[in-house]
Amino acid sequence: MSDAASMGRCTVVVGGQWGDEGKGKIVDVLAWEADIIARFQGGANAGHTVHVGEEEFIFHLIPSGILHPGKRCLMGNGVVLDPFQFFKEYDAAAARGVDPEGRVGVSLRAQLLLPYHRLLDRAREGTSPQKIGTTGRGIGPAYEDKVGRRGIRVVDLKDEARARSLLEEGLARARRRLAELGQADLEGSEECVGETLALRERLLTLATDVGLEIHRALKAGKMILMEGAQGTALDVDHGTYPYVTSSNTTAGGAAAGCGIGPTAITDILGVMKAYITRVGEGPLPTALPPDMDEKVRTLGAEFGATTGRPRRCGWFDGVLARYSARVNGLTGLAITKLDVLDTLPELSIATAYRMPEGVAEEFPADTGSLGKVEPVYEKLPGWEASTKDVRKLEDLPYHARSYLDRLQEITVTPITMVSVGTRRSQIIRVS
Ligand code: GDP
Ligand code: IMO
Ligand code: MG
Repeated sequence: MSDAASMGRCTVVVGGQWGDEGKGKIVDVLAWEADIIARFQGGANAGHTVHVGEEEFIFHLIPSGILHPGKRCLMGNGVVLDPFQFFKEYDAAAARGVDPEGRVGVSLRAQLLLPYHRLLDRAREGTSPQKIGTTGRGIGPAYEDKVGRRGIRVVDLKDEARARSLLEEGLARARRRLAELGQADLEGSEECVGETLALRERLLTLATDVGLEIHRALKAGKMILMEGAQGTALDVDHGTYPYVTSSNTTAGGAAAGCGIGPTAITDILGVMKAYITRVGEGPLPTALPPDMDEKVRTLGAEFGATTGRPRRCGWFDGVLARYSARVNGLTGLAITKLDVLDTLPELSIATAYRMPEGVAEEFPADTGSLGKVEPVYEKLPGWEASTKDVRKLEDLPYHARSYLDRLQEITVTPITMVSVGTRRSQIIRVS
């Protein structure tokens, strides 16, 4: 038997829009079948919501698979790990009856996101003429330190003296930068070195070679689930730059961010809402007029899971969806929040963008022009019936099926899951 034939499966789950597509719920549903669930990029800017019965859990760093007893949950080298947020989340999960003991691993190669990164993020947002509308979680500054080759990795904590000097250098550098930004209030940064060192041993007990663990698991025929954060249009290379996050959120980032070869990935599932939302600054071509925006936000409870900010709402953007399918190499689509559209009499889907130079079917690289496009809409009838209790595709109202068929045609990607509510049971599996 060839090496490849003895391999298990590796499914990457990515956001296909501007984040908050319902990745947490989809990962939770798929985690039943997985052995390892791993995050590969981002940090505590993510807010992944999972409902279990009447309980709601929101995960920022720990993979959403943690609610499944016995499953291993890893944070790969591509993650910027805020140790304070991480242990807060770890302890909160334990206090709510989830047992993370022995199940959580962090990559030795992961970068540490420290309190001064948060201060820098907020100071920048406060002073920059180009506000990004970040989550304020320190993401940009932490990735800047990583690619600037001055970051601190989990492995660096092994040698306490070296870790202390790296932390002191990092803090001094951040202080100089904060002073340049006119930031005098350094809220608690004095304690940063000592408090980080106090977490050293606890973090090191969880440290592991994530790439090696996943490689061995795949060779043993296990199933791996890679949980993306943010979404394709927030990717630092492929998104609406500069209104993006600072990592590769697309599927290509999964292999690099966990330390496995791209050929180990077997499936790439794109999660997309049946409409679209965006939080933070930057263009949203299919944005709804104010009254409809408010209506969909209320129907979909569209408020940020990390910052509580209201999300802007829009019609399904077929141009972005097709682009997402291409840049991620999607093998399947999970459409979420179909139920949110249940009461609307008529729906629109953008199939192209009208631009000064003509009609474009491809997502433009120029973010400025994206802010000025006029979407070309196709109108479809609503189904005006509840889909919340539907569990089979054939039981969906006729117009709901037609809507899904159209999404499938536009993206040229098969729909493999449809979510019709927040609960685990509110899911339609297609294949
Ligand atoms: P993520 O960041 O991609 O994991 O998504 P968020 O958790 O930030 O936002 C998705 C929100 O939609 C959460 O509040 C979920 O509980 C909720 N949600 C997920 N799937 C569905 C669905 O099919 N229907 C409805 N009504 N809500 C859903
Ligand atoms: P999940 O994983 C939606 C947005 C921010 C801002 C931009 C940059 O829950 O889908 P950052 O703090 O990353 O520097 O902010 O990206 N953003 C998200 N929007 N969902 C997210 O994560 C996001 N994470 C970051 O609002 O516009
Ligand atoms: Mg979210």
